[in-house]
Amino acid sequence: MQVGTLAHRDLFCRTFEETHVTFEPEQLPWPELDEVNLRRLRAFPFWRYARSIEQRAGRMVSAFALTIEDPVIRATVALQGTEETRHGRLMEHAIERYGIDAPPLTIADAPVSPEEFAVFGFGECTDSFVGFGAIALARQKGILPAALLDVFDGVMFEEARHIVFFINWWRYEEARAGRDGFGAHFKALGYHARAALGTITGATDLPPMPALDDPELAEIVKGVTPVMFLQAALAENRRMLAKLHPDLIKPVIMPTIATALLVGIRMLPPRKDVMKPLLAAPPAPGGSAARSAA
Ligand SMILES: [Fe+2]
Ligand SMILES: [Fe+2]
Repeated sequence: MQVGTLAHRDLFCRTFEETHVTFEPEQLPWPELDEVNLRRLRAFPFWRYARSIEQRAGRMVSAFALTIEDPVIRATVALQGTEETRHGRLMEHAIERYGIDAPPLTIADAPVSPEEFAVFGFGECTDSFVGFGAIALARQKGILPAALLDVFDGVMFEEARHIVFFINWWRYEEARAGRDGFGAHFKALGYHARAALGTITGATDLPPMPALDDPELAEIVKGVTPVMFLQAALAENRRMLAKLHPDLIKPVIMPTIATALLVGIRMLPPRKDVMKPLLAAPPAPGGSAARSAA
């Protein structure tokens, strides 16, 4: 399959549409949680950030869809918009259902243009990779019950579909503009950096995220090293992306960076600070942890 052809466009749009699942957040199999798990769930400080970021993603992606000329791509981006909006409702439902203290947070809307959608898309590639690792580790470490993580697995698969759609859309548009080639990877790195700086997310508007305020949970999280996190994220990334059509382009920058970091860490002599807890410091406001479900 050649990038930039109509066959390519039809494949990445059709794959997205065919893997779309119709559901309402309230109908999902939310488990009853015991006291310990409720306390742990309520202790994570990211709920209000995640909800607002999903809500804003829904507005931004839906508005961008309306500006797209190609009817096939327009319909697919509109469908992504409905999924992002549903993520916002899903977060809201989880917050209400489990009695999580998460006062509303207002975030300015992101601008709408192909360029901003590209920054948003590359940001989703980073956030999804982090989210894959976080959920896989929560499962491995038994931090939250499997039944609850299964619900969030569904969200993460939707994010996997978003990033695969996005990277194919971006490469399709670049190819049609005569810009496809090796330089695409360098350009993609630039977008990743812009997304990380929060130029589209408006992350700088967000109040700082508080530290994890639960001694028992903090103790478990303290045992997570960068190596554990990178390995979990890489494995989960592979598992999720393998579910999508083999002919589609898959995001490579985050897995490449993670692999390079793993190699680098393994080459270092054993040092105390290499094994430092990964999540000991509170995450940056609006950072990847907050957007991990975006
Ligand atoms: Fe998304
Ligand atoms: Fe989302």
